[in-house]
Amino acid sequence: MKKLVVSSGAGISAESGMMTYRDAGGLWDKYPVMQVASAEGFAADPSLIHQFYSNMRQKMQATVQPNAAHLGLVDLERDFDVHIITQNVDDLHERAGSSHVLHLHGELMKVRSMRHPERVYQLPCDQLTDKGLVTTVDTRDPYGDPVRPHIVFFGESVPEFEPAAQLVQQADILVVIGTSLVVYPAAALIQYAPSKAQIYYIDPNPASVPSRVHVIAKKATEGVAELAKLLREGQ
Ligand code: OAD
Repeated sequence: MKKLVVSSGAGISAESGMMTYRDAGGLWDKYPVMQVASAEGFAADPSLIHQFYSNMRQKMQATVQPNAAHLGLVDLERDFDVHIITQNVDDLHERAGSSHVLHLHGELMKVRSMRHPERVYQLPCDQLTDKGLVTTVDTRDPYGDPVRPHIVFFGESVPEFEPAAQLVQQADILVVIGTSLVVYPAAALIQYAPSKAQIYYIDPNPASVPSRVHVIAKKATEGVAELAKLLREGQ
């Protein structure tokens, strides 16, 4: 089976009702990115950050479902060895049923100990003093240590980048979906594709990419359907 590696960004979840970050009216228009998504912002006002991610988590669980693009990628597993690398902190690829999902920027449904970062907890977690999806600066893990969102903030390293780059290096087909390609190192993943790999990029407002990339300038749901057709015809 050919290895098909997907690199997804906020755009794949837009039709599910998750806000993108940089589109007009996106998250970073509403909330200053350096306050809610940076290491400095967390140090300055950790309460605000707990509140921001708790709100997003509650919204995601209450109202957001995987869409036809997430499901279409699961369907491709019948014909391809599909591995997903996502910049998204939502869990829509997992809920759709994708078998291999690597989160480059962390996961909204997880928190970790601030003293022992290797202690990661899935929410809702009975072991935490605050039950449910909401965490605060007073939330403690079973060892009495404070926790923080399991999110990669600007100014922090991206520990999953190495395994992600290795996956892309093994790709027969790379599919980039719904990302503005401005945040590094994620945006650099495309450069790791072997020269013989086919590369597709699905985005209604695509960034500029090398000419070898086949651009499908459509929304994710339509674009994944078109991709599936192209790939099956090409087999
Ligand atoms: P952006 O908000 O920067 O870009 C969203 C992309 O999705 C744009 O290129 C849009 O054109 C596209 N888009 C919008 N609607 C779409 C649809 N229905 N179907 C397909 N594409 C659509 O989001 P990312 O590139 O994912 O990091 O942002 C990268 C990182 O920046 C995020 O992971 C986040 C943010 O800061 C952290 O929080 C660590």
